[in-house]
Amino acid sequence: MDVGVFSYCIDAKKLTLPIDWRIFFNREAELVAELGFGNGEFLVNLAKENPSRNYVGFETSLVSIVKIQKRIHAERLDNVRVFMVDGRFGLREFFEDESLQEIYVNFPCPWPKKCHAHKRFTDEGFVRTVAAVLRRGGFFQLTSDADWYVYDMAKLIEASGCFGEISVWKNERVVLGTRYERKWLSQGKVSFTVKAVKVNHKTIERWTWGESAMPHVHIKNVDVDRLLQLKGQVFHHERGVFVVKDVYVSENEYLLRAVSNESNFQQRYFISVEKKEDGWLVKLDPDALAYRTFVVKFSVKKIAEVITT
Ligand SMILES: C[S@@+](CC[C@H](N)C(=O)[O-])C[C@H]1O[C@@H](n2cnc3c(N)ncnc32)[C@H](O)[C@@H]1O
Repeated sequence: MDVGVFSYCIDAKKLTLPIDWRIFFNREAELVAELGFGNGEFLVNLAKENPSRNYVGFETSLVSIVKIQKRIHAERLDNVRVFMVDGRFGLREFFEDESLQEIYVNFPCPWPKKCHAHKRFTDEGFVRTVAAVLRRGGFFQLTSDADWYVYDMAKLIEASGCFGEISVWKNERVVLGTRYERKWLSQGKVSFTVKAVKVNHKTIERWTWGESAMPHVHIKNVDVDRLLQLKGQVFHHERGVFVVKDVYVSENEYLLRAVSNESNFQQRYFISVEKKEDGWLVKLDPDALAYRTFVVKFSVKKIAEVITT
């Protein structure tokens, strides 16, 4: 059956996490992931060359999400799907322990400024995630034109105690075929790759697992004045923070536009406060969903608590 060009990007906020990949792809197969696929040449080529494997890509750029779907559709590939979310979050939340065979990162933005360092993949938490979701014998591979980035990653991999056969090498010609590889080579630059095979397993904590129900709270009475004053208020939780950006009013409903931040993972969503026959229902608005992380769940409960009379 032919599917539309834009059916390859899935909104995982509507799925129960972790994703059951056997049901998702409708077959049992080895899984491979790429984070930050850009134009998508590398991921699509891998998927084309290995039809017996399933491929999952993560991107934060909408332009890249659109481009790769056109490529996937042009090749009529049924073994690759993409998600528009931070790959660090997706890798941790969408995959069970020991479920991936290979993980690739090609030419990540190096974020050289210190104030942007939290956006890098060279982070202990990220390496712990990679170690948890890879199968023993599976590997992680990162390539960059920034040698310091590759060496930082190699150090973190080594320190995790979960990897063996850690190797770093220099590339002086096209090996991956991505846009950034071609770009740097055409400017006379070389690139560096770190590759590491998983040998020891350690699990990690997930933020969204175990509860697929949408967070909601029934309350008897609402303090409307208090509700209308919530704009601009910041609420703290041990895992992060959320702020109410706006409060919109309609006949039987109030909509609160919220932004949460948990360890630099930001989400924008709405909480609705809706009049029912027997009271009020405070819930995540289904038209602008968020991943049900600690702070998102907390925000629904907290709003219900502060507006209850
Ligand atoms: C320098 S480009 C490289 C693209 C491609 N891999 C290549 O080699 O041509 C980095 C890409 O990573 C994406 N990106 C940055 N941070 C990301 C993250 N946390 N998760 C997923 N993608 C990310 C950016 O949107 C961008 O497309």
